[in-house]
Amino acid sequence: MQRDSFGSRFGALVVIAGSAVGLGNIWRFPYMAGTNGGAAFIILYLVFVALICFPCMIAELMIGRRSRSNAPTSLRALAPGRRAWDWTGKLFIIIPILVLSYYCVIGGVTMEFFTRSLGMNPPSGNWSPVVWTAVFLLATGLIVVFGVQKGIERFSKVMMPLLFIIVILIAIRALTLPVRPGAEYSAADGIAFLFRPDFSKIDGKTCLAALGQAFFSLSLGSGVLMTYGSYIRPHDNLAKTAGQIAFFDLLFAIIAGCAIIPAVFALKDNPLAILSDNTDSALVFNILPDVFPQMPLGSLVGAFFFFALILAALTSSISQFEVPVSYLVEEKGLSRTVACAAVFCIALVLGMACALRPKVMSAFDGLCANWLMPLGGLLALLFVGWVLTRGDLSDELSSGGTHKVGERFIAVLSFAIRYLAPVGVIAVFLSQLFS
Ligand code: PFF
Repeated sequence: MQRDSFGSRFGALVVIAGSAVGLGNIWRFPYMAGTNGGAAFIILYLVFVALICFPCMIAELMIGRRSRSNAPTSLRALAPGRRAWDWTGKLFIIIPILVLSYYCVIGGVTMEFFTRSLGMNPPSGNWSPVVWTAVFLLATGLIVVFGVQKGIERFSKVMMPLLFIIVILIAIRALTLPVRPGAEYSAADGIAFLFRPDFSKIDGKTCLAALGQAFFSLSLGSGVLMTYGSYIRPHDNLAKTAGQIAFFDLLFAIIAGCAIIPAVFALKDNPLAILSDNTDSALVFNILPDVFPQMPLGSLVGAFFFFALILAALTSSISQFEVPVSYLVEEKGLSRTVACAAVFCIALVLGMACALRPKVMSAFDGLCANWLMPLGGLLALLFVGWVLTRGDLSDELSSGGTHKVGERFIAVLSFAIRYLAPVGVIAVFLSQLFS
């Protein structure tokens, strides 16, 4: 059977950036940056992306592309006869399914808010979160069932640019909000909150917050980058693709910050309390629906915002969905349609538990973002650093000799993959353990 692949490097770029850019950028990044030292947090985030996440991205993409198969099969094929890695591979099926099962609940809530922002009044009851979860999952499955190039890539190529344009327009609207008479703060104070570096806020906890944010935001350690890596064409430049994805992910988070924080400052009386209180999705789902109606053209901006959020969530959820689908198709011989139906059913059952029991949802989130994803990232780093060879790394970076890569770059990256990044991830682990 001919294996599907991305049609172009641009296709690979938008699809992987689509997985990275998601709810993590829109609701998590703005308040994390705002409350953890503003620009100082952003600088830390950049350092961690360069030193830890970039090597981890290369490691995961490379595992996929080297074996051109789904995540578990890749590990088995690249380390034949080593049962521990065979078992490790299964983790990269479990993690995306777990993430999907709560991500689709938030995606469903976003869809519900979108319909409300259009002035519709969908019936709501105890079961409505389950229904919205099912609708969101169905939308995800319907994109994935069309395949990598005709479904995922085609959808992302149209929706990612659209998502960028919408969020830029909302940021412009937020930044140009007039000062309310008698108000203590303005939109400009929001920008100051986000960008003024406050180095006094930087401590161990802030460092770890920045690293955790970078991990979640780049979809690291979930099997997604391995799976998507396996669809990257053999001659495409991996390092360049990884670098551009990290850049776009950060750029998008900053633009989303400029869309949200200034609006809260311009239109709310107690912005500092609101932003420092946010530990949950409250900012996006409790505060913003209240903020939009107060601004000129507010209902239009609100509708566009929730539409953008749906797009961001969908391009991430399709990546989580594709990981087990590719496994079921390649390893278990299911047709793509049957595999999609199976993943839909599993995620729906788990998603129901998350939709009906918020505690289950936050337990899943804590388990995945704080434990399983860093563990997955660490294992991928160890695999590339200690099971594969430096020759494998240089072969992948140069795409089999298609382009020139400096020896020094390979040496630095190899050091980061073997030592620096694993130690960084272990530090996050330890901090979670003792916090
Ligand atoms: N990177 C996504 C975001 O920032 O919203 C979240 C995510 C996507 C996590 C895919 C895990 C994953 F497998």
